Amino acid sequence: MNLSIDRERLVSEVEALAKISEAEPPVVTRIVFTQADLRARAWVIARCKEAGLEVRQDAVGNIFARWEGSDSAAAAVGTGSHIDAIPNAGKYDGVVGVLGGLESIRALKQAGFHPKRSIELIIFTSEEPTRFGVGCLGSRMLSGALSAESAARLCDANGEVLDEVRLKAGSVGDLESVKLAAGHYHAFVELHIEQGPVLEREGMPLGIVERIAAPASANILIEGAGGHAGGVLMPERRDALCAAAELVLEVERAARATGAPDTVATVGICQVFPGAVNSIPSRVHLTLDLRDTDLARRDLVMAKIARASKAISKKRSVSMGTELINADAPADCAPEVVQTLTDSCREHKLRCLPMVSRAYHDALFVSQIAPMGMLFVPCLHGYSHRPDEYAAPDDMARGALVLAEALARLSR
Ligand code: GLV
Ligand code: MN
Ligand code: MN
Repeated sequence: MNLSIDRERLVSEVEALAKISEAEPPVVTRIVFTQADLRARAWVIARCKEAGLEVRQDAVGNIFARWEGSDSAAAAVGTGSHIDAIPNAGKYDGVVGVLGGLESIRALKQAGFHPKRSIELIIFTSEEPTRFGVGCLGSRMLSGALSAESAARLCDANGEVLDEVRLKAGSVGDLESVKLAAGHYHAFVELHIEQGPVLEREGMPLGIVERIAAPASANILIEGAGGHAGGVLMPERRDALCAAAELVLEVERAARATGAPDTVATVGICQVFPGAVNSIPSRVHLTLDLRDTDLARRDLVMAKIARASKAISKKRSVSMGTELINADAPADCAPEVVQTLTDSCREHKLRCLPMVSRAYHDALFVSQIAPMGMLFVPCLHGYSHRPDEYAAPDDMARGALVLAEALARLSR
């Protein structure tokens, strides 16, 4: 089969999608179900239809663009990723898997390939946790890891609940219908930028993921006592921000203390109330993001942070409440999909590196209902979740080429 990826089209589509953003270029911000996200969805759907794919959406807005196989009753082969983007993001996170996946399908069509199994490109809703607090919303629901009932109640910072927001955004149907049965997909492959420096450092064009690290996240609410910055003397203070500062450093210490490079912890949000120069902070909201490839080690770090929080709360006479948002298990990629990806690299004489994904992806949840694999392409300096994120055209095209080969092999 003569597979040929249209690199220029892929690059120009990545650029075009990046312009649909809530922020000025080069920044991409596309929060789920905002106007920018809705416009981006419409734009991608139009490209999928132009490519001859049948498009449907489920009740939470996951988009499925299907190329019907000759055996339409057979379990389909899935690929895809997300197009939502965190505040102050770049152009490539998620997008390479969506537009690269579309380009793979076009290349297969162009080569005259006819799949036996249908091939579906999936654009998952809200892989990013920005709006509703939990990452991989669409794939969590699709796999059944998040129930319709819990999802419906998820609330954004303005108090808008997911069940209303998704209806306003045009999604229809019962959230119960989002869950897919095990066996719905024969296999699933997600193409993504690495979001780390390993491929670049090793001079490797492609990475084949063998395992996705286990993510956990929590909201931490600290309540102390506010008051006048001049009037309240230091011994009387119950400053919520000072307590938060101690906890943030404990989070860092606990992650470093494992000595394992795979343990990573981040406090990415710190909201201070009332937030006035001359007012003692009475309340602080922190978020905790903790990940590890080793589930037991991650949970030990979580327990250590909980103990530190108790001690700080006692010492400073503040209350600290922790609300766990998610604590997911790691996922192993399916050996047969890993093998198919390895063979596909070999077929095109491309070297590849077996690796771990420390970022989470929709594939983490799809693995609960289908054999899953992931293909990584390098990104400059490993930068991601920042506006200067960059993947080179040749790297994206190589990723799409190997993906096309793998989709062909899996759908025969
Ligand atoms: C995905 O965006 C992640 O935070 O790993
Ligand atoms: Mn991301
Ligand atoms: Mn992503």
